[in-house]
Amino acid sequence: MSTPAILVRGGTVVNADREFSADVLCVGGKVAAVGATAAEQAPAGTFTLDAGGRYVMPGGIDPHTHMQLPFMGTVAADDFFSGTAAGLSGGTTSIIDFVIPDPKQPLLDAFRTWRGWAERSAADYGFHVAVTWWSEGVHADMGRLVKEEGVNSFKHFMAYKNAIMCDDETLVNSFRRALELGAMPTVHAENGELVYLLQQEVVKMGITGPEGHPLSRPPMVEGEAANRAIAIADVLGVPIYIVHVSCIESAEAIARARARGQRVYGEVLAGHLVIDDSVYRHPDFATAAAYVMSPPFRPRAQGHQEMLWRGLQSGQLHTTATDHCVFCAPQKAAGRASFTQIPNGCGGIEDRMAVLWDAGVNTGRLTPSEFVAVTSANCAKIFNIYPRKGCIVEGADADLVLWDAQATRTISVKAQKSKGDFNIFEGRQVRGVATHTLSRGALVYADGDLRATAGHGQYVKRPAFGPSFAAVARRAAELAPSAVQR
Ligand code: URP
Ligand code: ZN
Ligand code: ZN
Repeated sequence: MSTPAILVRGGTVVNADREFSADVLCVGGKVAAVGATAAEQAPAGTFTLDAGGRYVMPGGIDPHTHMQLPFMGTVAADDFFSGTAAGLSGGTTSIIDFVIPDPKQPLLDAFRTWRGWAERSAADYGFHVAVTWWSEGVHADMGRLVKEEGVNSFKHFMAYKNAIMCDDETLVNSFRRALELGAMPTVHAENGELVYLLQQEVVKMGITGPEGHPLSRPPMVEGEAANRAIAIADVLGVPIYIVHVSCIESAEAIARARARGQRVYGEVLAGHLVIDDSVYRHPDFATAAAYVMSPPFRPRAQGHQEMLWRGLQSGQLHTTATDHCVFCAPQKAAGRASFTQIPNGCGGIEDRMAVLWDAGVNTGRLTPSEFVAVTSANCAKIFNIYPRKGCIVEGADADLVLWDAQATRTISVKAQKSKGDFNIFEGRQVRGVATHTLSRGALVYADGDLRATAGHGQYVKRPAFGPSFAAVARRAAELAPSAVQR
């Protein structure tokens, strides 16, 4: 059944470059017209949605989610339908999830498994594919994933020793292969050897509860890994994207590298911007364990949250995500005897946009256009799907969110659409609410009415050699003569 045309009338369109009053006509899942003539071009039977002066923004892209991820002996509770439906209710219309192969499983096999799971997705999706060991088969599969399957990014976990952690040899080989293929290497930056050692030491000291989690993963553990990954990328001349930057140490590593002209991109989680490590000292195990994720939430007095905000403001950090990876209380209970066994992960996909708007735009830290940059446009550019996604322009996918900047709501697990039994933003009052969401022209959320359908979401192929690859090639050419002189 084809989606009826929709005219979004009388809104303020916000793109990453500017905001302006305009009507937006959506036909056949695409933006057909933006501006004064949009109404005139509307075909017979077009449904009119009165934006009534609200903001009309590109649907959010969450570049970091883990739907139904098998991890730490259990499986994340939100599947591709429930997780993406929750996202739609908060204005997020696309996700990039992670394919994480079992040890030694061919990458392509794992990719097919995830593609199968994601067929139930209610929102559009793509995949980063994790490289967790190195072999000729991995080398070959990376090529097929990029050239045939529309994957243009690979993930490397520098933590989770004895599970999915990859060593430096794998990092070097995979980064080099990614460069050859025009794909973006991404890293979870934490030194897994240090985490492993500190976990044993903290437990030996008798600290076995969730308060031990941040003690075993201090900021420098993240800083070391970020610096190492950035250095490897610099030597090889490949751009790099650091996921969930949580602290000053890694934010500074990125800023330093960028000041040297290196193409380094940083992602920040909504949770890391507003939550601090005091949550791990909550007397109730279930509550403290619900916040266990890696990297952990950081001490406020040290200024980590402020640093992340400044990174987004200054353009040194680029995207915002959630790392949506939901484990319910019975699953978290696996770590009652030792925090090292608590499944790592928290939710947030339906609240990212509201938390970012409230704590970012309402405070004057971000302009509405900067909000669009860090919630969709930058991600679309870095992962080479711009302006199909992340921009309201003729020909783009009609992924839109109508945003009421004056409406308020109190975030609570009681109202959430996710299958999670906890909300890390519980009790937070936000001003700025998604009232309507359009996914490829279909009205999937309207004033509290979630109309998500399993299978509406489509797989988004992402072409190789995004804009940053042209930039690194130019920089390599510039540096070459001076390198010869040396
Ligand atoms: O704690 C987290 N972040 N769980 C999901 C896996 C990862 O590290 O991204
Ligand atoms: Zn991670
Ligand atoms: Zn993650």
